[in-house]
Amino acid sequence: MHLGRTTLSKFLIEQLRDAPGQSALAALLVDVAAATKAISAMVGRGALGPGIASPLGGAELRNSAGDVQKPLDVLTNEAIVSHCEWGGLLAGMVSEEMEAPYAIPAQYQRGEYLLVFDPLDGSSNIDVNVSVGTIFSVLRHDGKAAPTTADFLQPGTKQVAAGYAIYGPATMLVLTVGHGTHGFTLDREVGNFIMTHPDLRVPEETSEFAINVSNERFWEPPVARYVTECKAGKTGVRGRDFNMRWIASMVADVHRILMRGGVFMYPRDSKDPSKPGRLRLLYEANPMSLLIEQAGGAASTGRAPILDVAPAELHQRVPVILGSKAEVERIVRYHHEYDRGEDKPYISPLFNERSLYRPEARA
Ligand code: AHG
Ligand code: MN
Ligand code: MN
Repeated sequence: MHLGRTTLSKFLIEQLRDAPGQSALAALLVDVAAATKAISAMVGRGALGPGIASPLGGAELRNSAGDVQKPLDVLTNEAIVSHCEWGGLLAGMVSEEMEAPYAIPAQYQRGEYLLVFDPLDGSSNIDVNVSVGTIFSVLRHDGKAAPTTADFLQPGTKQVAAGYAIYGPATMLVLTVGHGTHGFTLDREVGNFIMTHPDLRVPEETSEFAINVSNERFWEPPVARYVTECKAGKTGVRGRDFNMRWIASMVADVHRILMRGGVFMYPRDSKDPSKPGRLRLLYEANPMSLLIEQAGGAASTGRAPILDVAPAELHQRVPVILGSKAEVERIVRYHHEYDRGEDKPYISPLFNERSLYRPEARA
């Protein structure tokens, strides 16, 4: 039992009580949390539950962006929609698994918030029983009309709340309403999220980086420079050894960084020139960036703060570099030095064809 401990509801009521008109935000976040409890139960059944095999008997379903859609991607999306559409708190929703904005059905009241989410992050890991998660972000909707696509295209600085659930050995909810980043652990017997990690701070000193090294040949020189220096360890300019981790679930990688520091990168690369990164701005990069910044870390595209990026499309992708502040600032400096042509002493063996990567060639 957790007598006297802070439940998620108590925390939200206390945090938002004095903010005018924000009790609706607390109620919305309680609905989102209820959806994550349902997803936790769904995901926790593993191969005993629905959703590992394709419903088409081998044929692949794809979402609007062309990503393979697993049954659990669809089921988790439905779980969030059904938990959050009825309460009169939302004006609309956007998700990785829905091409167009979801309008609140006419039988329900329309509220003043927008919910954007990735219902199942890391879904490529679901059939190997590795941690997955749900990422969400809450924006305001001003006005009485049903929201249009343009209403969702708000920069990350406008988020009023952001969070993720991680379905690992324990299920946790990590969230911010703009006053720090706080972690709650699901007590499965009681069904409550209990505050276990108040005021998370990303450790400033770190010797750990996370990046998918199989993309190395597509990286830009500043990212190659940073990783090469980390790998050189004690014998290189950093003068200490680094460790590398890559879970391939952004939620799990970011969670580790919140707990013990480090830097996470899914940078711009040249793999597919039509995609400026892999991760989505509205429902992956923005909520994670707000959580990291509220915990004292930093988040950048390499050239600008992620939270300042003005979205042009719902499912827009963006380069992501986030984590311990000093490391992110170093990587941003490497981008600026490269763009100004000031990083001449460093020539990665991978990028001796520099002209391909000159800023003017990229413009
Ligand atoms: P999703 O499962 O929602 O499509 O997101 C997967 C993302 C992210 O969680 C992770 O960091 C990245 O894709 C993994 O990419 P690689 O397959 O290149 O490792
Ligand atoms: Mn994702
Ligand atoms: Mn997903």
